[in-house]
Amino acid sequence: MGRQIGNASILIPGTAKKGIDPRSNITINKPQTMSTHRPEIKKITTHQLQEMKNRHEKISMLTAYDYSMAKILDAAGIDVLLVGDSASNVMAGNETTLPITLDQMIYHATSVVKATERAFVIVDIPFGSYQGNSSEALRSAVRIMKESGAHAVKMEGGAEIKESVVRILSAGVPVMGHLGLTPQSIFKFGTYTVRAKEEEEAQKLLEDAKLLEECGCFGIVLEKIPAKLAKKVAEEVNIPIIGIGAGNEVDGQVLVMQDMLGITKEFKPRFLRQYVDLDKVITDAVNNYIDDVKSGDFPNEKEQY
Ligand code: KIV
Repeated sequence: MGRQIGNASILIPGTAKKGIDPRSNITINKPQTMSTHRPEIKKITTHQLQEMKNRHEKISMLTAYDYSMAKILDAAGIDVLLVGDSASNVMAGNETTLPITLDQMIYHATSVVKATERAFVIVDIPFGSYQGNSSEALRSAVRIMKESGAHAVKMEGGAEIKESVVRILSAGVPVMGHLGLTPQSIFKFGTYTVRAKEEEEAQKLLEDAKLLEECGCFGIVLEKIPAKLAKKVAEEVNIPIIGIGAGNEVDGQVLVMQDMLGITKEFKPRFLRQYVDLDKVITDAVNNYIDDVKSGDFPNEKEQY
């Protein structure tokens, strides 16, 4: 995912519909312990994702990298959890997604899979683990599936990686494509700005999306492209199209969990909607804890043996 500073909005859950000013002071809603989102679906599969597209039901997707958060997101009813290589940014503090290794992705994926009962879990194959050749790509995908228990892999690129995509698919591993802004190629692009604004690049993106569908991919992420182009792709391609910074006329949306929860304060692109200011919530809680420890108020008699 491209990390660039900008302006995001903060939205209190439900306030858009209720007409409350979404930029009023952040308050935490009463926690929901049980999902209200299609709990009748016990386990999300590629088949269900396709059916969701067919009946125009939007697909919800968020990134997750660890057990505790994945458990919360899964219980809340998220359809898809993506163990994104954005872990390189938000978990490891790297500037790009390039440094994260296959072993590290498998570590994150294993933790997320253990926490998940309902969501479909997709794992990014990291930079350098599939671009070389299709045998290496297959080996990487097999390691992810075998060692983490994930349900699918995601890869960045179109025609350039066709051979690898086909080889992984022929091994029975579901593949999600990723087009538009592909952060593993950031040093080729040189910037995290909107992709495919020009006709030539837009045409190539559409062709790549059709190619990925033909190969047998079960879905495609479109990152940071004009909404009009994303709409066209979602109309002309029959598999689910999930957008991030790609407008509303696609089949679902994905965000990086830390961004929408307000943990990554410095990352505020225009496409981001921030649902809570967890940075403030956590800072206030930690300040209270420090005060209580320093004053000797914590632990009290009931909090000791
Ligand atoms: O790595 C990631 O988090 C991603 C999403 C932003 C689509 O690829």
